[in-house]
Amino acid sequence: MTESPFIQEVNKRRTFAIISHPDAGKTTITEKVLLYGQAIQKAGTVKGKKSGQHAKSDWMEMEKERGISVTTSVMQFPYRDELVNLLDTPGHEDFSEDTYRTLTAVDSCLMVIDSAKGVEDRTIKLMEVTRLRDTPIITFMNKLDREIRDPIELMDEVEDVLKIACAPITWPIGMGKEFKGVYHLLRDEVILFQQGMGHTIADNRVIKGLDNPELDEAIGDYAEELREMMELVQGAAHEFDLEMFLAGELTPVFFGTALANFGVDHMLDGLVDWAPKPQPRATNERQVTPQEDKFSGFVFKIQANMDPKHRDRIAFLRICSGKYEKGMKMHQVRTGKDVRISDALTFLAGDREAVEEAYPGDIIGLHNHGSIRIGDSFTVGEKVSFTGIPNFAPELFRRIRLKDPLKQKQLLKGLVQLSEEGAVQVFRPLTNNDLIVGAVGVLQFDVVVHRLKAEYNVDAIYEAISVSTARWCECDDERKLAEFRRKAESNLALDGSDSLTYIAPTMVNLSLAEERYPDIKFLKTREH
Ligand code: G4P
Repeated sequence: MTESPFIQEVNKRRTFAIISHPDAGKTTITEKVLLYGQAIQKAGTVKGKKSGQHAKSDWMEMEKERGISVTTSVMQFPYRDELVNLLDTPGHEDFSEDTYRTLTAVDSCLMVIDSAKGVEDRTIKLMEVTRLRDTPIITFMNKLDREIRDPIELMDEVEDVLKIACAPITWPIGMGKEFKGVYHLLRDEVILFQQGMGHTIADNRVIKGLDNPELDEAIGDYAEELREMMELVQGAAHEFDLEMFLAGELTPVFFGTALANFGVDHMLDGLVDWAPKPQPRATNERQVTPQEDKFSGFVFKIQANMDPKHRDRIAFLRICSGKYEKGMKMHQVRTGKDVRISDALTFLAGDREAVEEAYPGDIIGLHNHGSIRIGDSFTVGEKVSFTGIPNFAPELFRRIRLKDPLKQKQLLKGLVQLSEEGAVQVFRPLTNNDLIVGAVGVLQFDVVVHRLKAEYNVDAIYEAISVSTARWCECDDERKLAEFRRKAESNLALDGSDSLTYIAPTMVNLSLAEERYPDIKFLKTREH
Protein backbone atom coordinates (compact mmCIF):
# COMPACT_ATOMS: atom_id res chain seq x y z
CA MET A 1 0.00 0.00 0.00
CA THR A 2 1.39 3.38 -0.87
CA GLU A 3 1.61 5.96 1.86
CA SER A 4 -0.60 9.01 1.83
CA PRO A 5 1.07 12.26 0.76
CA PHE A 6 0.86 13.43 4.38
CA ILE A 7 2.73 10.38 5.72
CA GLN A 8 5.30 10.74 2.95
CA GLU A 9 5.94 14.31 4.03
CA VAL A 10 6.29 13.24 7.68
CA ASN A 11 8.71 10.45 6.82
CA LYS A 12 10.94 12.81 4.85
CA ARG A 13 11.75 14.95 7.85
CA ARG A 14 14.95 14.72 9.90
CA THR A 15 15.14 17.23 12.71
CA PHE A 16 18.43 17.56 14.55
CA ALA A 17 20.72 19.89 16.51
CA ILE A 18 24.46 20.03 16.98
CA ILE A 19 26.01 19.45 20.38
CA SER A 20 29.63 20.37 20.90
CA HIS A 21 32.11 22.25 23.04
CA PRO A 22 32.77 25.85 21.90
CA ASP A 23 35.32 25.97 19.06
CA ALA A 24 34.91 22.34 18.07
CA GLY A 25 33.47 23.54 14.76
CA LYS A 26 29.68 23.78 15.12
CA THR A 27 29.42 26.98 13.10
CA THR A 28 31.75 25.75 10.39
CA ILE A 29 29.94 22.47 10.00
CA THR A 30 26.59 24.28 9.88
CA GLU A 31 27.88 26.34 6.98
CA LYS A 32 28.99 23.27 5.08
CA VAL A 33 25.79 21.41 5.80
CA LEU A 34 23.87 24.32 4.34
CA LEU A 35 26.15 24.29 1.34
CA TYR A 36 25.15 20.69 0.71
CA GLY A 37 21.55 21.64 1.21
CA GLN A 38 22.24 24.22 -1.47
CA ALA A 39 20.64 26.68 0.83
CA ILE A 40 23.48 29.07 0.32
CA GLN A 41 25.76 29.15 -2.64
CA LYS A 42 28.99 29.90 -0.93
CA ALA A 43 29.40 28.69 2.61
CA GLY A 44 30.54 31.26 5.08
CA THR A 45 27.56 33.39 5.92
CA VAL A 46 26.00 31.69 8.91
CA LYS A 47 27.18 34.22 11.43
CA GLY A 48 29.98 36.61 12.22
CA LYS A 49 32.68 36.00 14.79
CA LYS A 50 31.39 34.79 18.09
CA SER A 51 31.97 36.54 21.35
CA GLY A 52 34.70 35.05 23.47
CA GLN A 53 34.94 35.29 27.23
CA HIS A 54 32.36 37.34 29.04
CA ALA A 55 33.15 41.02 29.03
CA LYS A 56 31.09 44.14 28.70
CA SER A 57 32.66 44.79 25.34
CA ASP A 58 31.08 41.58 24.05
CA TRP A 59 27.86 43.48 24.10
CA MET A 60 27.51 44.59 20.56
CA GLU A 61 28.79 41.24 19.37
CA MET A 62 26.08 39.52 21.36
CA GLU A 63 23.47 41.81 19.98
CA LYS A 64 24.62 41.34 16.45
CA GLU A 65 24.57 37.65 16.92
CA ARG A 66 21.13 37.71 18.48
CA GLY A 67 19.94 40.00 15.72
CA ILE A 68 20.49 37.53 12.98
CA SER A 69 19.92 34.46 15.05
CA VAL A 70 16.19 34.40 14.47
CA THR A 71 16.88 33.50 10.89
CA THR A 72 19.62 31.06 11.76
CA SER A 73 17.73 29.51 14.68
CA VAL A 74 16.18 26.98 12.35
CA MET A 75 17.53 26.02 8.99
CA GLN A 76 15.50 23.80 6.71
CA PHE A 77 17.01 22.37 3.57
CA PRO A 78 16.59 19.44 1.21
CA TYR A 79 19.23 16.73 1.15
CA ARG A 80 18.84 13.89 -1.32
CA ASP A 81 15.12 13.06 -1.17
CA GLU A 82 14.69 14.12 2.42
CA LEU A 83 14.08 17.40 4.19
CA VAL A 84 16.43 18.30 7.01
CA ASN A 85 15.70 20.72 9.86
CA LEU A 86 18.79 21.88 11.71
CA LEU A 87 18.06 23.70 14.95
CA ASP A 88 20.77 26.05 16.09
CA THR A 89 21.72 26.36 19.73
CA PRO A 90 23.45 29.31 21.36
CA GLY A 91 27.20 29.02 21.37
CA HIS A 92 27.70 30.71 24.70
CA GLU A 93 27.50 28.62 27.84
CA ASP A 94 25.53 31.32 29.62
CA PHE A 95 22.57 30.48 27.44
CA SER A 96 22.72 26.75 27.98
CA GLU A 97 19.15 26.65 29.22
CA ASP A 98 18.03 27.64 25.76
CA THR A 99 20.14 24.84 24.35
CA TYR A 100 18.62 22.27 26.71
CA ARG A 101 15.14 23.24 25.64
CA THR A 102 16.03 23.14 21.96
CA LEU A 103 17.24 19.59 22.49
CA THR A 104 13.68 18.63 23.49
CA ALA A 105 12.51 19.63 20.00
CA VAL A 106 14.81 17.40 17.93
CA ASP A 107 14.79 13.73 17.03
CA SER A 108 18.55 13.29 16.79
CA CYS A 109 21.81 15.12 17.48
CA LEU A 110 25.11 15.55 15.76
CA MET A 111 28.00 15.56 18.19
CA VAL A 112 31.01 17.46 16.86
CA ILE A 113 34.34 16.74 18.51
CA ASP A 114 37.64 18.55 18.02
CA SER A 115 39.86 15.56 17.30
CA ALA A 116 42.90 17.29 18.71
CA LYS A 117 41.13 17.69 22.04
CA GLY A 118 38.65 14.85 22.42
CA VAL A 119 35.63 14.91 24.73
CA GLU A 120 35.28 18.30 26.45
CA ASP A 121 33.10 19.58 29.33
CA ARG A 122 30.26 21.12 27.46
CA THR A 123 29.80 18.04 25.33
CA ILE A 124 29.56 15.92 28.46
CA LYS A 125 26.82 18.16 29.85
CA LEU A 126 24.87 18.26 26.63
CA MET A 127 25.10 14.49 26.26
CA GLU A 128 23.53 14.17 29.70
CA VAL A 129 20.61 16.21 28.44
CA THR A 130 20.17 14.10 25.30
CA ARG A 131 20.17 11.03 27.53
CA LEU A 132 16.95 12.14 29.18
CA ARG A 133 15.19 11.20 25.96
CA ASP A 134 17.69 8.66 24.60
CA THR A 135 18.19 10.84 21.55
CA PRO A 136 20.18 9.09 18.82
CA ILE A 137 23.64 10.63 18.33
CA ILE A 138 25.81 10.84 15.23
CA THR A 139 29.46 11.76 15.80
CA PHE A 140 31.74 13.87 13.63
CA MET A 141 35.42 13.91 14.55
CA ASN A 142 36.52 17.25 13.20
CA LYS A 143 39.77 18.99 12.23
CA LEU A 144 41.57 16.10 10.57
CA ASP A 145 43.60 18.68 8.66
CA ARG A 146 45.43 19.26 11.94
CA GLU A 147 47.54 17.05 14.15
CA ILE A 148 44.90 15.03 15.95
CA ARG A 149 44.86 12.40 18.66
CA ASP A 150 44.95 8.72 17.81
CA PRO A 151 41.50 7.81 16.38
CA ILE A 152 41.24 4.66 18.48
CA GLU A 153 42.03 6.62 21.60
CA LEU A 154 39.40 9.21 20.65
CA MET A 155 36.71 6.59 20.27
CA ASP A 156 37.75 4.92 23.53
CA GLU A 157 37.36 8.26 25.25
CA VAL A 158 33.86 8.74 23.83
CA GLU A 159 32.93 5.24 25.00
CA ASP A 160 34.40 5.68 28.49
CA VAL A 161 33.35 9.22 29.24
CA LEU A 162 30.06 9.46 27.38
CA LYS A 163 29.06 5.84 27.85
CA ILE A 164 28.01 5.25 24.29
CA ALA A 165 29.37 2.58 21.95
CA CYS A 166 31.21 3.86 18.87
CA ALA A 167 30.85 2.34 15.43
CA PRO A 168 33.31 3.87 12.97
CA ILE A 169 31.67 4.43 9.59
CA THR A 170 34.66 6.18 8.07
CA TRP A 171 38.30 5.85 9.07
CA PRO A 172 40.92 8.55 8.57
CA ILE A 173 44.02 8.06 6.47
CA GLY A 174 46.81 10.27 7.79
CA MET A 175 46.23 13.60 9.44
CA GLY A 176 47.33 17.22 9.36
CA LYS A 177 49.36 18.05 6.29
CA GLU A 178 49.42 14.36 5.47
CA PHE A 179 45.66 13.91 5.59
CA LYS A 180 44.80 11.72 2.61
CA GLY A 181 41.11 11.01 3.03
CA VAL A 182 38.92 8.38 4.63
CA TYR A 183 37.98 4.77 4.13
CA HIS A 184 34.23 4.20 4.21
CA LEU A 185 33.78 0.89 6.03
CA LEU A 186 30.25 0.24 4.83
CA ARG A 187 30.75 1.25 1.21
CA ASP A 188 34.20 -0.32 1.05
CA GLU A 189 35.68 2.67 -0.69
CA VAL A 190 38.40 5.21 -0.10
CA ILE A 191 37.46 8.83 -0.67
CA LEU A 192 40.51 10.97 -1.34
CA PHE A 193 40.91 14.39 0.19
CA GLN A 194 41.69 17.41 -1.94
CA GLN A 195 42.76 20.66 -0.43
CA GLY A 196 41.31 24.05 -1.15
CA MET A 197 37.74 22.88 -1.65
CA GLY A 198 36.36 24.33 1.59
CA HIS A 199 33.83 26.55 -0.13
CA THR A 200 32.59 24.16 -2.75
CA ILE A 201 31.25 20.68 -3.10
CA ALA A 202 34.29 18.81 -4.28
CA ASP A 203 34.13 15.92 -6.70
CA ASN A 204 36.50 13.72 -4.71
CA ARG A 205 38.22 10.75 -6.26
CA VAL A 206 36.78 7.46 -5.01
CA ILE A 207 38.71 4.19 -5.05
CA LYS A 208 36.53 1.14 -4.75
CA GLY A 209 37.82 -1.73 -2.59
CA LEU A 210 40.56 -1.84 -0.02
CA ASP A 211 42.62 -4.25 -2.09
CA ASN A 212 42.49 -2.15 -5.20
CA PRO A 213 46.08 -1.52 -6.47
CA GLU A 214 44.98 2.00 -7.44
CA LEU A 215 45.07 2.73 -3.75
CA ASP A 216 48.80 2.01 -3.48
CA GLU A 217 49.40 4.21 -6.45
CA ALA A 218 47.30 7.02 -4.95
CA ILE A 219 48.45 7.07 -1.34
CA GLY A 220 51.66 5.01 -1.29
CA ASP A 221 52.58 3.43 2.04
CA TYR A 222 49.38 4.62 3.62
CA ALA A 223 47.52 1.93 1.64
CA GLU A 224 49.20 -0.98 3.40
CA GLU A 225 48.94 0.73 6.75
CA LEU A 226 45.22 1.25 6.16
CA ARG A 227 44.68 -2.41 5.29
CA GLU A 228 46.37 -3.51 8.51
CA MET A 229 44.47 -0.96 10.53
CA MET A 230 41.15 -2.04 9.07
CA GLU A 231 41.75 -5.62 10.07
CA LEU A 232 42.30 -4.44 13.58
CA VAL A 233 39.36 -2.02 13.63
CA GLN A 234 36.92 -4.42 12.05
CA GLY A 235 37.81 -7.00 14.67
CA ALA A 236 37.78 -4.70 17.67
CA ALA A 237 35.29 -1.88 17.06
CA HIS A 238 31.52 -2.11 17.22
CA GLU A 239 29.67 -2.67 14.00
CA PHE A 240 26.97 -0.21 13.15
CA ASP A 241 23.64 -1.40 14.52
CA LEU A 242 20.57 0.63 13.60
CA GLU A 243 18.50 -0.47 16.57
CA MET A 244 21.21 0.41 19.06
CA PHE A 245 21.68 3.76 17.35
CA LEU A 246 17.97 4.52 17.54
CA ALA A 247 18.00 3.58 21.24
CA GLY A 248 20.80 6.07 21.86
CA GLU A 249 23.22 3.29 22.79
CA LEU A 250 25.59 3.45 19.83
CA THR A 251 26.90 6.29 17.73
CA PRO A 252 28.13 6.05 14.14
CA VAL A 253 31.45 7.92 13.90
CA PHE A 254 32.62 9.95 10.90
CA PHE A 255 36.00 11.60 10.47
CA GLY A 256 36.69 14.73 8.46
CA THR A 257 37.35 18.41 8.41
CA ALA A 258 34.54 20.90 8.38
CA LEU A 259 36.82 23.77 7.43
CA ALA A 260 38.05 22.00 4.30
CA ASN A 261 34.57 20.57 3.74
CA PHE A 262 35.57 16.95 3.74
CA GLY A 263 33.48 14.19 5.29
CA VAL A 264 30.46 16.37 5.98
CA ASP A 265 28.53 14.69 3.17
CA HIS A 266 29.30 11.23 4.58
CA MET A 267 27.81 12.35 7.86
CA LEU A 268 24.74 13.84 6.10
CA ASP A 269 24.22 10.58 4.24
CA GLY A 270 24.26 8.79 7.60
CA LEU A 271 21.81 11.31 8.99
CA VAL A 272 19.20 10.91 6.26
CA ASP A 273 19.68 7.13 6.07
CA TRP A 274 19.54 6.36 9.78
CA ALA A 275 18.40 9.26 11.93
CA PRO A 276 14.81 8.85 13.03
CA LYS A 277 11.95 10.53 11.27
CA PRO A 278 9.70 12.59 13.56
CA GLN A 279 9.11 10.75 16.82
CA PRO A 280 6.08 10.61 19.12
CA ARG A 281 5.93 13.10 21.98
CA ALA A 282 4.52 12.68 25.49
CA THR A 283 1.73 14.86 26.86
CA ASN A 284 0.09 14.93 30.26
CA GLU A 285 -2.66 12.69 28.87
CA ARG A 286 -1.28 10.43 26.16
CA GLN A 287 1.40 10.02 23.57
CA VAL A 288 0.92 12.01 20.38
CA THR A 289 2.24 10.40 17.21
CA PRO A 290 3.31 12.41 14.16
CA GLN A 291 1.05 10.39 11.89
CA GLU A 292 -2.10 11.69 13.57
CA ASP A 293 -3.87 14.06 11.24
CA LYS A 294 -4.86 16.63 13.87
CA PHE A 295 -2.34 19.40 14.32
CA SER A 296 -0.39 19.76 17.58
CA GLY A 297 2.91 21.22 18.73
CA PHE A 298 4.79 22.93 21.54
CA VAL A 299 6.83 26.09 21.96
CA PHE A 300 10.42 25.44 23.01
CA LYS A 301 11.98 28.81 22.44
CA ILE A 302 11.04 32.45 22.20
CA GLN A 303 13.37 34.85 20.56
CA ALA A 304 13.14 38.59 20.48
CA ASN A 305 13.99 39.72 17.03
CA MET A 306 16.48 42.53 17.24
CA ASP A 307 16.10 43.43 13.59
CA PRO A 308 14.63 46.96 13.85
CA LYS A 309 12.45 46.27 10.81
CA HIS A 310 10.70 43.44 12.64
CA ARG A 311 10.34 44.43 16.25
CA ASP A 312 8.49 41.34 17.25
CA ARG A 313 9.13 38.19 19.15
CA ILE A 314 9.06 34.84 17.49
CA ALA A 315 7.83 31.76 19.32
CA PHE A 316 9.37 28.60 17.86
CA LEU A 317 6.92 25.75 17.71
CA ARG A 318 7.82 22.16 16.95
CA ILE A 319 5.00 20.45 15.10
CA CYS A 320 4.26 17.08 16.74
CA SER A 321 1.31 15.90 14.65
CA GLY A 322 -0.89 16.95 11.76
CA LYS A 323 -0.32 19.61 9.21
CA TYR A 324 -0.02 23.35 9.67
CA GLU A 325 -1.87 25.29 7.03
CA LYS A 326 -1.80 29.01 6.61
CA GLY A 327 -4.81 30.65 8.21
CA MET A 328 -5.68 27.69 10.42
CA LYS A 329 -7.17 28.11 13.87
CA MET A 330 -5.07 26.83 16.75
CA HIS A 331 -6.07 26.23 20.33
CA GLN A 332 -3.63 27.53 22.94
CA VAL A 333 -4.07 24.93 25.67
CA ARG A 334 -2.83 26.97 28.66
CA THR A 335 -5.12 29.94 28.05
CA GLY A 336 -7.97 28.02 26.45
CA LYS A 337 -8.05 30.56 23.64
CA ASP A 338 -8.37 29.95 19.93
CA VAL A 339 -6.13 31.95 17.64
CA ARG A 340 -6.04 32.18 13.88
CA ILE A 341 -2.50 31.92 12.53
CA SER A 342 -2.02 33.44 9.13
CA ASP A 343 1.58 34.50 9.18
CA ALA A 344 3.73 31.73 10.64
CA LEU A 345 7.32 31.75 9.47
CA THR A 346 9.37 28.99 8.06
CA PHE A 347 13.10 29.01 7.75
CA LEU A 348 13.78 27.40 4.43
CA ALA A 349 17.26 28.38 3.28
CA GLY A 350 17.67 30.43 6.41
CA ASP A 351 15.32 33.18 5.27
CA ARG A 352 12.13 34.41 6.80
CA GLU A 353 9.30 33.64 4.51
CA ALA A 354 5.64 33.00 4.98
CA VAL A 355 4.92 29.32 5.05
CA GLU A 356 1.83 27.85 3.49
CA GLU A 357 2.09 24.47 5.14
CA ALA A 358 4.37 22.57 7.49
CA TYR A 359 4.55 19.03 8.83
CA PRO A 360 5.54 17.10 11.96
CA GLY A 361 9.24 17.57 12.62
CA ASP A 362 9.14 21.08 11.18
CA ILE A 363 9.53 24.21 13.22
CA ILE A 364 7.35 27.19 12.55
CA GLY A 365 7.77 30.68 13.97
CA LEU A 366 4.70 32.32 15.45
CA HIS A 367 4.56 36.05 15.97
CA ASN A 368 4.20 36.65 19.64
CA HIS A 369 3.10 39.82 21.30
CA GLY A 370 3.52 38.53 24.81
CA SER A 371 0.75 35.94 24.95
CA ILE A 372 2.85 32.88 24.17
CA ARG A 373 5.15 31.28 26.74
CA ILE A 374 7.84 28.67 26.52
CA GLY A 375 6.25 25.28 27.01
CA ASP A 376 2.89 26.30 25.55
CA SER A 377 1.05 23.59 23.67
CA PHE A 378 -1.08 24.28 20.63
CA THR A 379 -3.68 21.86 19.27
CA VAL A 380 -6.85 22.04 17.24
CA GLY A 381 -8.98 21.69 20.34
CA GLU A 382 -7.69 18.75 22.37
CA LYS A 383 -6.68 19.76 25.87
CA VAL A 384 -3.31 18.04 26.08
CA SER A 385 -0.04 19.64 27.15
CA PHE A 386 3.33 18.40 25.97
CA THR A 387 5.66 17.56 28.81
CA GLY A 388 9.40 17.59 29.29
CA ILE A 389 10.30 21.20 28.49
CA PRO A 390 12.38 22.19 31.49
CA ASN A 391 13.17 25.31 33.49
CA PHE A 392 16.34 25.10 35.58
CA ALA A 393 16.76 26.66 39.00
CA PRO A 394 19.00 29.69 38.52
CA GLU A 395 22.38 29.80 40.17
CA LEU A 396 23.06 33.54 40.06
CA PHE A 397 20.89 36.20 41.63
CA ARG A 398 20.73 39.96 41.69
CA ARG A 399 18.26 42.52 42.92
CA ILE A 400 17.12 44.77 40.11
CA ARG A 401 16.28 48.39 40.78
CA LEU A 402 15.01 51.27 38.69
CA LYS A 403 16.84 54.49 38.11
CA ASP A 404 13.43 56.14 37.75
CA PRO A 405 11.09 54.73 40.41
CA LEU A 406 7.98 55.75 38.48
CA LYS A 407 8.48 52.99 35.96
CA GLN A 408 7.90 50.09 38.37
CA LYS A 409 4.97 48.78 36.36
CA GLN A 410 6.91 48.67 33.09
CA LEU A 411 9.84 47.03 34.84
CA LEU A 412 7.65 44.27 36.19
CA LYS A 413 5.91 43.79 32.84
CA GLY A 414 9.26 43.62 31.06
CA LEU A 415 10.71 41.16 33.52
CA VAL A 416 7.69 38.89 33.45
CA GLN A 417 7.72 38.84 29.66
CA LEU A 418 11.44 38.19 29.53
CA SER A 419 11.01 35.36 31.99
CA GLU A 420 8.26 33.85 29.84
CA GLU A 421 10.74 33.87 26.99
CA GLY A 422 13.22 32.04 29.16
CA ALA A 423 15.71 34.93 28.88
CA VAL A 424 15.92 35.18 32.66
CA GLN A 425 13.89 34.30 35.74
CA VAL A 426 12.20 36.77 38.01
CA PHE A 427 11.12 36.35 41.61
CA ARG A 428 8.86 38.58 43.67
CA PRO A 429 9.27 37.95 47.40
CA LEU A 430 6.00 37.55 49.32
CA THR A 431 7.03 39.96 52.05
CA ASN A 432 8.63 42.91 50.28
CA ASN A 433 8.65 44.77 46.98
CA ASP A 434 12.06 43.62 45.78
CA LEU A 435 12.46 42.18 42.34
CA ILE A 436 15.06 39.43 42.18
CA VAL A 437 16.49 38.33 38.87
CA GLY A 438 17.88 34.83 38.63
CA ALA A 439 20.06 33.55 35.81
CA VAL A 440 21.91 30.43 34.83
CA GLY A 441 24.75 32.39 33.16
CA VAL A 442 26.04 35.87 33.94
CA LEU A 443 25.60 37.20 30.40
CA GLN A 444 21.84 36.83 30.84
CA PHE A 445 21.89 39.74 33.31
CA ASP A 446 23.43 42.04 30.71
CA VAL A 447 20.96 40.99 28.07
CA VAL A 448 18.05 41.74 30.37
CA VAL A 449 19.15 45.26 31.29
CA HIS A 450 19.86 45.99 27.66
CA ARG A 451 16.51 44.69 26.50
CA LEU A 452 14.59 46.45 29.28
CA LYS A 453 16.02 49.67 27.95
CA ALA A 454 15.54 48.89 24.26
CA GLU A 455 12.12 47.30 24.42
CA TYR A 456 10.46 48.72 27.54
CA ASN A 457 12.27 52.02 27.86
CA VAL A 458 13.25 51.23 31.43
CA ASP A 459 16.63 52.05 32.94
CA ALA A 460 17.50 49.43 35.52
CA ILE A 461 20.56 48.57 37.55
CA TYR A 462 21.55 45.59 39.63
CA GLU A 463 22.51 45.28 43.26
CA ALA A 464 24.16 42.36 44.94
CA ILE A 465 21.88 40.16 47.00
CA SER A 466 22.72 37.25 49.23
CA VAL A 467 20.78 34.46 47.61
CA SER A 468 22.57 31.27 46.73
CA THR A 469 19.83 29.15 45.24
CA ALA A 470 16.12 28.82 44.51
CA ARG A 471 13.76 25.85 44.48
CA TRP A 472 10.24 25.54 43.18
CA CYS A 473 7.92 24.30 45.92
CA GLU A 474 5.13 21.81 45.44
CA CYS A 475 2.91 19.82 47.77
CA ASP A 476 -0.16 17.70 47.06
CA ASP A 477 -1.68 18.58 50.40
CA GLU A 478 -3.24 22.05 50.12
CA ARG A 479 -3.37 22.51 53.89
CA LYS A 480 0.31 21.72 54.38
CA LEU A 481 1.24 24.01 51.52
CA ALA A 482 -0.72 26.87 53.08
CA GLU A 483 0.98 26.26 56.41
CA PHE A 484 4.39 26.23 54.74
CA ARG A 485 3.53 29.42 52.93
CA ARG A 486 2.71 31.08 56.25
CA LYS A 487 5.68 29.81 58.22
CA ALA A 488 8.39 30.21 55.60
CA GLU A 489 6.94 33.39 54.19
CA SER A 490 10.08 35.47 54.52
CA ASN A 491 11.95 33.07 52.19
CA LEU A 492 9.20 32.64 49.64
CA ALA A 493 8.61 34.36 46.34
CA LEU A 494 6.50 34.00 43.22
CA ASP A 495 8.24 33.48 39.91
CA GLY A 496 7.25 34.94 36.53
CA SER A 497 4.38 32.49 36.19
CA ASP A 498 3.29 32.82 39.83
CA SER A 499 4.78 29.52 40.97
CA LEU A 500 5.84 29.39 44.60
CA THR A 501 9.61 29.44 45.02
CA TYR A 502 11.88 29.09 48.00
CA ILE A 503 14.72 31.62 47.93
CA ALA A 504 17.61 30.32 50.00
CA PRO A 505 20.31 32.67 51.28
CA THR A 506 22.67 29.72 51.76
CA MET A 507 22.77 26.04 50.86
CA VAL A 508 22.66 25.22 54.57
CA ASN A 509 19.48 27.21 54.91
CA LEU A 510 17.99 25.17 52.07
CA SER A 511 18.94 21.86 53.71
CA LEU A 512 17.38 22.99 56.97
CA ALA A 513 14.18 24.00 55.19
CA GLU A 514 14.03 20.64 53.43
CA GLU A 515 14.37 18.89 56.80
CA ARG A 516 11.87 21.10 58.49
CA TYR A 517 9.20 20.73 55.79
CA PRO A 518 9.43 17.09 54.69
CA ASP A 519 6.07 17.21 52.90
CA ILE A 520 7.15 19.95 50.57
CA LYS A 521 8.95 19.10 47.36
CA PHE A 522 11.86 21.47 46.66
CA LEU A 523 12.40 21.18 42.92
CA LYS A 524 15.53 22.08 41.02
CA THR A 525 13.84 21.90 37.65
CA ARG A 526 10.32 22.75 36.79
CA GLU A 527 8.32 22.00 33.70
CA HIS A 528 6.72 24.85 31.95
P1 G4P B 1 32.04 26.61 17.20
O1 G4P B 1 30.90 27.15 16.41
O2 G4P B 1 31.87 25.19 17.59
O3 G4P B 1 32.46 27.45 18.34
O4 G4P B 1 33.33 26.53 16.24
P2 G4P B 1 33.64 27.25 14.87
O5 G4P B 1 32.97 26.57 13.75
O6 G4P B 1 33.48 28.71 15.01
O7 G4P B 1 35.18 26.86 14.77
C1 G4P B 1 36.12 27.26 15.73
C2 G4P B 1 37.47 27.46 15.07
O8 G4P B 1 37.90 26.21 14.55
C3 G4P B 1 37.43 28.43 13.90
O9 G4P B 1 38.69 29.06 13.83
C4 G4P B 1 37.26 27.51 12.71
O10 G4P B 1 37.73 28.07 11.52
C5 G4P B 1 38.11 26.34 13.15
N1 G4P B 1 37.76 25.09 12.49
C6 G4P B 1 36.53 24.53 12.34
N2 G4P B 1 36.62 23.37 11.68
C7 G4P B 1 37.91 23.18 11.41
C8 G4P B 1 38.65 22.16 10.72
O11 G4P B 1 38.12 21.18 10.21
N3 G4P B 1 40.00 22.33 10.65
C9 G4P B 1 40.65 23.42 11.18
N4 G4P B 1 41.94 23.48 11.06
N5 G4P B 1 39.98 24.38 11.83
C10 G4P B 1 38.64 24.27 11.94
P3 G4P B 1 38.96 30.49 14.38
O12 G4P B 1 40.37 30.80 14.07
O13 G4P B 1 38.51 30.59 15.80
O14 G4P B 1 37.98 31.38 13.58
P4 G4P B 1 38.05 31.84 12.09
O15 G4P B 1 38.90 33.06 12.16
O16 G4P B 1 38.64 30.74 11.28
O17 G4P B 1 36.63 32.11 11.76
